[in-house]
Amino acid sequence: MVLLKEKLKEIETESIKKEVKVGIIGAGYVGLVTAAGLAYKGYHVLVVEKDKEKLKKIKQGICPFYEPDLQRYLLEGIESGRLSFRENISELVSECRYIFVCVGTPIKDDSTYDMYYLDIVAKEIANNLKNNFKVIIIRSTVPPGTGRWFKKAILRYRRGLTASFEVVSMPEFLREGNAIYDFFNPSRIIIGSDNYDIGKEVSELYSDFGAPILIVSLEEAEIIKLASNAFLAMRISFINSIANLSEVFDSNIENIRLGIGLDPRIGTEFLKAGIGFGGSCLPKDLSALISVFNNYQINPILFEAVKIINDERIDIFINKIKKALWNIKNKILTVWGVSFKANTDDIRESPALKIIPKLVQEGAFINVYDPKGLHNFQNYVQKNYPNFSNSIKLIENIYESTVNSSAILITNDWDEYKRVNYYNIYELMETPIIIDGRNILNPLEMKEIGFEYYSIGNNIR
Ligand code: UGA
Repeated sequence: MVLLKEKLKEIETESIKKEVKVGIIGAGYVGLVTAAGLAYKGYHVLVVEKDKEKLKKIKQGICPFYEPDLQRYLLEGIESGRLSFRENISELVSECRYIFVCVGTPIKDDSTYDMYYLDIVAKEIANNLKNNFKVIIIRSTVPPGTGRWFKKAILRYRRGLTASFEVVSMPEFLREGNAIYDFFNPSRIIIGSDNYDIGKEVSELYSDFGAPILIVSLEEAEIIKLASNAFLAMRISFINSIANLSEVFDSNIENIRLGIGLDPRIGTEFLKAGIGFGGSCLPKDLSALISVFNNYQINPILFEAVKIINDERIDIFINKIKKALWNIKNKILTVWGVSFKANTDDIRESPALKIIPKLVQEGAFINVYDPKGLHNFQNYVQKNYPNFSNSIKLIENIYESTVNSSAILITNDWDEYKRVNYYNIYELMETPIIIDGRNILNPLEMKEIGFEYYSIGNNIR
């Protein structure tokens, strides 16, 4: 009887989903994953993307960036007919009750968020509102107060005309490289709304995700997002500081991490020492949070320290390389890793982008390998360092990248680096030295093969 009831509820939920149309504005990481994921869950999803080239690819089922499994879900959504595309926002507004805003919020030179795209979206929505009630859900990462501004902006653009809508803030917590997994297995669903009933209604869209749902105020949701990323950044800078101490005493940071993390109040996650955090989120959101604090005359010292410690990681790594090699001028150095972490081709704020030019300036020749990030890195070098083309070689084969090399520098954490045959690599290199900026290899194994192996927070060779 109970089973039958459950089954009936499931069938009822499924048929409700088929009637719900969800609009997505912006097909970047967040928008595209949300679109493909919600379509897979049974909703009808309509997507608008202003970049025509990008949209053309997406319509053909081609993912414009590398994200494991996303292409599969994208194709499935398109083939099922549940994922489709519209030319402009007006069509979304007329067809959908729920509109997810997933446009970019880059930060400007003064480290404050650029609200330009959000403002355009507010105007477009305002100009197309009719009598049907709309729920506008902001998923872009924004400073506290944005949801309220967005509401105000829509009302202003309406110029006194009636407007039947509510704004909800629903931050995302997807990790690049794990976005599909994170979408279907969220740790929590945070819904910020001034109107509890609307918050509850939005929570129904996510009722079968098996995650705790927290309905809070608009600003609380916005602060939760920024605070979560700042906390993660803080953990990384914390362990990197301790790694500096660990090196002084010839200790192993992995043992220290385990020793700290076994306290259930602390845990071992996000305490991996290395060359610092990169990517399009942690560095940007941290800088923006500092600006928000300054803006409200609140002391941002904690977050400033997190940032300073992270910035220092680059020089600490360069010094480690120089100390290990004695001289780097005219030497071939192999860099494994230009994306900011494994399983993504995203090179934004990747530590390697700062490390490589410094080594070139000191006269080194760099062989670069990365499983997915080379094309983005090539564009980056052409744009920012056109004079370095003779010093930087992009190599698509990991073994070839080590030929005649004086050292391998590991700057991100792809699994592939663990699987290569190090006996072969030992033979290919001029001097068998590995400087592992992500602590992903086993020091004892490397030593046994004959490598001089250096890592972070670990002076044991
Ligand atoms: C981060 C957050 O983890 C997500 O929850 C959030 O949704 C996302 O930002 C966002 O705001 O959109 P992401 O930028 O994809 O996700 O990358 P992370 O997995 O957080 O890694 C960030 C950086 O920290 C990487 O460079 C990584 O190598 C480094 N890291 C991570 C460490 O150095 N040590 C660690 O223990 C963990």
